[in-house]
Amino acid sequence: MKRFDVVTLFPEMLNALTEYGITRRARDSGFFELVAWNPRDFSGNAYRSVDDRPYGGGPGMVMMADPLAKAVRAARSRQKSCGVARSRTVYLSPQGKPLDQAFVDELARDEGLVMLAGRYEGVDERLIELEIDEEVSIGDYVLSGGELAAMVIIDSIVRRIPGVLNDACSATQESFVDGILDYPQYTRPEVYADRAVPQVLLSGNHAEIQRWRLKQALGRTWRRRPDLLEKLKLDAEQAELLEEYRADYGETEKTGVK
Ligand code: ADE
Repeated sequence: MKRFDVVTLFPEMLNALTEYGITRRARDSGFFELVAWNPRDFSGNAYRSVDDRPYGGGPGMVMMADPLAKAVRAARSRQKSCGVARSRTVYLSPQGKPLDQAFVDELARDEGLVMLAGRYEGVDERLIELEIDEEVSIGDYVLSGGELAAMVIIDSIVRRIPGVLNDACSATQESFVDGILDYPQYTRPEVYADRAVPQVLLSGNHAEIQRWRLKQALGRTWRRRPDLLEKLKLDAEQAELLEEYRADYGETEKTGVK
């Protein structure tokens, strides 16, 4: 059982995970639990205020260290009382280490994950120094708060838990799990807007289909994300398939025929 605790001013946002789709089913089946902690419950004042103006001036408000520290510690002690030996505590922010599939798989190895979702202009830096193991970013853009980032992390970890996806293969056949993009998918009808489904997919020849799919996946990665391809060591079969794809693609460019 994976244990996720999220410190957030908007606990209801997390319902998007527990009420829909694969993550809902996984939670209902006991693959993970998700507990939200509202720092306002730790504010220690009647107004339940958790933010204040930034020292040095500037726009907006900053989340105060103490309510957050108390909420994070409460989350960690809950995990400890459930038998989690060590809970990794992360703060979601654009200043963090960028998330990719390898990082997801690393986070998935820990039994307990405590996530702090900030709002406003951010949180007091001393809270980060004292309570946070690592800052994590889900991309080079700015969100209005860390909640969506926490949900992205939970979703991407949950689908890597063995047994969560119906098909034992689908978690490993996915895009990025092998470091390359997905092959294209087709379903009925066989012809749509004058475009036919590639013939090989109707052939029933599984070896040929697998070969075609791998070739498409490699070819797409080469065209769209050459940065991913550079990180990979292709085996002989993969290199040959990519060569074939490149040759086909060069022909298409010359003749204009796909
Ligand atoms: N909070 C705001 N923007 C974020 C981002 N890009 N990643 C993680 N947390 C964030």
